[in-house]
Amino acid sequence: MKIPSRIITIDRTPIYVGDNALSFVDKVIRSMHLGHDGIYILVDKNTRHYCLPVLLEQSALLAGARLLEIDGGEDSKTIAMAGKLWNELLASGASRESLLVNLGGGVISDLGGFVTAGYKRGINYLNIPTTLMGQSDAAIGGKTAVNLGSIKNQIGFFHAAKSVFIFPGFLNTLPKDHMRSGMAEIIKCALVGNARLWRRIRNHPVTEILSLPVEHAFWHEMLTSTIKYKNMVVVRDYKENKLRKVLNFGHTIGHALEAYSLLDSRKPLLHGEAVAAGMICAAYLSHKKTGLMAPDMEAITTYLTDGFPAYSVDSLSMPAVMELIVHDKKRKNGHLQFTLISKPGNPVINISCDQEEILEALGFFNATLSG
Ligand code: GLY
Repeated sequence: MKIPSRIITIDRTPIYVGDNALSFVDKVIRSMHLGHDGIYILVDKNTRHYCLPVLLEQSALLAGARLLEIDGGEDSKTIAMAGKLWNELLASGASRESLLVNLGGGVISDLGGFVTAGYKRGINYLNIPTTLMGQSDAAIGGKTAVNLGSIKNQIGFFHAAKSVFIFPGFLNTLPKDHMRSGMAEIIKCALVGNARLWRRIRNHPVTEILSLPVEHAFWHEMLTSTIKYKNMVVVRDYKENKLRKVLNFGHTIGHALEAYSLLDSRKPLLHGEAVAAGMICAAYLSHKKTGLMAPDMEAITTYLTDGFPAYSVDSLSMPAVMELIVHDKKRKNGHLQFTLISKPGNPVINISCDQEEILEALGFFNATLSG
């Protein structure tokens, strides 16, 4: 099935979604009346190889763009890498009129957005996300960031892309584990904001969904519902004073597990794999603190443990994980603030949880592996 493009708008950031989304790139660039100081495309090896040729087929204006290439992966999301890119932009004469096109997953849009926010106090950029994680979450909403040591997204700016182009066909180039990782953000949006979508998703195990071609109507439904939901949240609370916190469901513990997994000897968790683990902990805390019914907690837990790879935190690692949780940004007056749910589709923000409760949630998560 062909998915016709439609336009969803975040304030002044249009999001073009669909099979001909990329055909709008030149029109948008033309409308920006750029000077002659250059267009740059930020890629990694994979997006240069698999996605750039597809983009260039649709955009004559990008044919002359200069490429900036980084290594894929979370290790590139550093201030040092931003410094390297700033030097490359400066050396090649980029000015305030220049444009950066981020072609890649969450690392590319977070880092590329960060670079544009800082370069000469802010230049324009476009996001063309090529992963499910990017298309359903990271490329939308103007959050840009790099990591500080092992702590995720500590340094960043709100700096919105001029436009976002979501071409689902790029997902055909993605390995299964990255598709599964992106599924976590779709599940998150369903759990906090769309009970109907959650009921649809929970009837289809993750492995079944991953076996569907991205052209399937169910992918279209999941992707557009998620983008529309995220769009609505960002329009209403761009700077995350209140409502946008709902998008942090599963992320407080998830970020810590993701960071911890980069330090231990096992294969590092992908962002969505860590968020899935974080959502199991958040479901437990929701049951304990905000009235999530036991059958809902169990349904969420079973769905996620069946769908995502097992990862456990042994008791010796708990202090290190707790240390990472405590450094999370979502703190107020020394208390860790969680986004929980009272039922699927009903988020509750700013719920304080103490360390004992968090340890209990991690214990619950570990127990699901042996259950
Ligand atoms: N990824 C969460 C947010 O954009 O707020």
